[in-house]
Amino acid sequence: MVRTLEQRRFPVKKLVLLASKRSAGQTTTFNGKTVTIEELTPASFAGVDIALFSAGGSVSKEYCPIAAAAGATVIDNSSAWRMDPDVPLVVPEVNMEHAANRPKGIIANPNCSTIQMMVALKPLHDAARIKHIVVSTYQATSGKGHAAVTELEEQTQAKLSGKDYPPKVFPSPIAFNVVCDWKAGDMDYSEEEWKMVHETRKILGDQSILVSPTTVRVPVVNGHSEAVYVSFHRPLHAAEAKDLLRNAEGVELTDGPYAPGKHPQPIDAAGKDAVYVGRVRDDIGVPGTIHLFVVADNLRKGAALNAVQIAERL
Ligand SMILES: NC(=O)c1ccc[n+]([C@@H]2O[C@H](COP(=O)([O-])OP(=O)(O)OC[C@H]3O[C@@H](n4cnc5c(N)ncnc54)[C@H](OP(=O)(O)O)[C@@H]3O)[C@@H](O)[C@H]2O)c1
Repeated sequence: MVRTLEQRRFPVKKLVLLASKRSAGQTTTFNGKTVTIEELTPASFAGVDIALFSAGGSVSKEYCPIAAAAGATVIDNSSAWRMDPDVPLVVPEVNMEHAANRPKGIIANPNCSTIQMMVALKPLHDAARIKHIVVSTYQATSGKGHAAVTELEEQTQAKLSGKDYPPKVFPSPIAFNVVCDWKAGDMDYSEEEWKMVHETRKILGDQSILVSPTTVRVPVVNGHSEAVYVSFHRPLHAAEAKDLLRNAEGVELTDGPYAPGKHPQPIDAAGKDAVYVGRVRDDIGVPGTIHLFVVADNLRKGAALNAVQIAERL
C-alpha cells in the first residue's frame, strides 16, 4: 500500500504508519524519507484525513469507527465492514458513486477475487444485464499473506529434495497440488465463495444476480486467475463483449484468435495495475452466453491499488 501511494504520486502531506506494538519503532522509507512506525492507539487518528486499514478484521472492527469519529475517511481492506448496509463496497471503475453515501465514514474494499471479476463484467452488465455467473478461481498463495508464500516456496524446495514439509497455513500441501478454500460457509460453500456471491450483488446493486463460485488455491506466488461463464437477460455474443471490453476502464483485453500461451497469465499480471481479460468466447451449447478468462495482481488491483484508487477519486 505504501509503495502504491509512492508509485502513483499520491498527494501526501504527512504519512503516519501504524502497526502493533511488535513493529513500533521500526522504520521504512516513503518518497526517499525515513518514516518511523508507531503503535496503533485510539489517539492515532487526530488530524488524519484518509485512513487506509489493512490489519485484519478484528482491528478494523475496533478501530475504523474510532478513526471515522476523529474525522478521517476510512478505507478498509478487511472483510469486517463489507456487508454492512451503511458501508459502501467500492471498485472505482464500477461503482464509485456508492462512495458518496458513507454514513459511518467507512468505505470497504472488496475481496480480491470479486474486484477483478467486477472490473471485467461491469461493461457487459451495463449492456445486457447479468443473469448468472459461474466462476472458478485459481488463486495465488500471496492472497493468504506472506507466510503462505513462504510455505509454497519452502515446500517446493523440500519436495524436490525428497524432504518432508508438513503444511501449516494450508490444510494440505500447496506445492505440486491445488487446494479448495477450506474455511467453511453455509451449504457446503466456503466463506471465500460466499464473499463472491454477496459482494457481486452489492457492488452491482442487483440482488437477483445468480453467482455459482468454486474458489481454489494453486501453487502460484502472485496473481489470481478466474474462468468465468456468464449468461444475460438478452443474448450477448463474444464479438460484442470484446467490443465492450476493448475500451473498458481498467481492462486490458487480449484479443485475436486463441494461441497457445497467449492468454492472460498471472506471471505477466504480477506487479501490474490492469485486469487482464482474454479467451472471450461464445459458449458451445447455449447461444448468447460467453466465457472469459480474467487475471489480475491480487495484491495490487485485488487490495492495495483498489484502496488507493478509492482515495485518489475521493
Ligand atoms: N481485497 C483486499 O482488500 C484484501 C486482499 C488481501 C488481504 N486483505 C486483508 O487485509 C488484511 C491484512 O492482510 P495482510 O495479508 O496484509 O496481513 P499481514 O501481512 O499479516 O499484515 C498485517 C498488518 O497489520 C498489522 N497488525 C496486526 N495486528 C495489529 C494490531 N493489533 N494493531 C495494529 N496493527 C496490527 C501488522 O503489524 P505487525 O507487523 O506489528 O503485527 C501488519 O502490519 C486482512 O484483513 C486481509 O484479509 C484484503
